[in-house]
Amino acid sequence: MAGKSKEETVFFCTECGYESRKWMGQCPSCRSWSTFSEEPVTRIRASGRQGGSSAARAAAEIMPVRMDDISTEPEERISTGFDEFSRVLGGGIVPGSLILVGGDPGVGKSTLLLQTAAKVAEKHSVIYISGEESLKQIRLRARRIGEMGEDLRFVAETDIDRIISMLEKEKPDLCVIDSIQTMSTADSQSVPGSVSQVRECSQRMMICAKQNNIATFLVGHVTKEGTVAGPRVLEHIVDTVLYFESGEQFGYRVLRSAKNRFGSTNEIGVFEMSGEGLKEVLNPSEYLLEGRFKNATGAVVTCLIEGSRAMLMEVQGLAADTQYGIARRQANGMDYNRMVMLLAVLQKRAGVNIGQMDVYVNIAGGMKITQPSADLAVILAVMSSLRNVPVPEDTVVFGEVGLSGEVRSVPQASDRIREAERLGFRRVIMPAVSLKGMERPRQIETIGISFISEMFALL
Ligand code: TYD
Ligand code: MG
Repeated sequence: MAGKSKEETVFFCTECGYESRKWMGQCPSCRSWSTFSEEPVTRIRASGRQGGSSAARAAAEIMPVRMDDISTEPEERISTGFDEFSRVLGGGIVPGSLILVGGDPGVGKSTLLLQTAAKVAEKHSVIYISGEESLKQIRLRARRIGEMGEDLRFVAETDIDRIISMLEKEKPDLCVIDSIQTMSTADSQSVPGSVSQVRECSQRMMICAKQNNIATFLVGHVTKEGTVAGPRVLEHIVDTVLYFESGEQFGYRVLRSAKNRFGSTNEIGVFEMSGEGLKEVLNPSEYLLEGRFKNATGAVVTCLIEGSRAMLMEVQGLAADTQYGIARRQANGMDYNRMVMLLAVLQKRAGVNIGQMDVYVNIAGGMKITQPSADLAVILAVMSSLRNVPVPEDTVVFGEVGLSGEVRSVPQASDRIREAERLGFRRVIMPAVSLKGMERPRQIETIGISFISEMFALL
């Protein structure tokens, strides 16, 4: 190609895309170790800052518009066919938006998007582009899942420029690129999956999506080896970033949003992998409480608010005499520092001596809690294990705990009570302040407490 300078190489962090002239052991931007990989860079590419083929760039004439001429009518969103998925997106797919779906290989990204594509194809035109599987393999997968809309079409291709010309001609409402790491453009010298290829291809897809109003899903594998660029490299390019995670041994999958230009990032969607593809779990509380031991010590049910939904889950605590002099603490599914802080409050404010105890806290079902409203349940779970007395199984506990041992209010208390009531619990222990001015529910007893030790009377 004319005008191309001699080949140079640059080092990229495969985690976050940080660029450096020399190799580094640790990335100064995202702090990951051994993630730098060397890639050839041709200046001709680097100068095309906004990406896209030059033909596409020339075609996109710039036209300033007046504020009054900008339409403010809400665009009609496309339903994904899964309530769980649509809610995570903020109410469906926004036309022309670019959505990254990241996750470990094998978690079910292709299955989720194939099912979604099939559903959307009932009313819209959809093209599913796979760089990973042959048409035959997709067909086999589709057969497992069941019915496909007639208008769902497939392409097996990895050249992004050919894909874009096809999309510009076909102008579907929705397309799926599975996966972005298999795509490449001949304008970049790097191998498919490298940081520069992944970035370049995504930028081209972004332009294609916006100019032709094609809602686009990009699948991105989360990688461990650090030779293939991970989805974080493109988080800033796309409109929405979703991560599909699995509690491997638990059989269910959680879809979370890490960034969303068109909705909240608090929502989560829960799915279950079955023999016929993914099924949504509309009642996660029931699901998460399944298989609970009756009268187990150290187990407490708490209620969290995930986005617009209240969710019950079990917090488990274990306190045992330490064997090796130094007490061990371990937190699974919650922040370690938060746990240590709560144990210190328990020790200092309630006079419970746990200095010589190993303490383990676990959130059952592999869920992660990030909200302080589970504090009270964590403390009660540890106490229950310490005293070897079970917490009554019909009790739900929630509330934030402060450094003085005081129980602080939590948002949406009545939603949490309602969820506990719906699942047949009889009693809620919660912050006394949250009860003020609240209409008392009839079916369920509410006990307001202001200090942590007040709840130990229960044991
Ligand atoms: P897949 O969607 O290929 O994962 P990804 O695209 O994220 O790499 O699905 C992964 C797993 O799901 C695979 O191990 C097979 C399993 N699976 C089922 O259990 N049931 C099904 O109906 C389908 C299609 C897949
Ligand atoms: Mg796949």
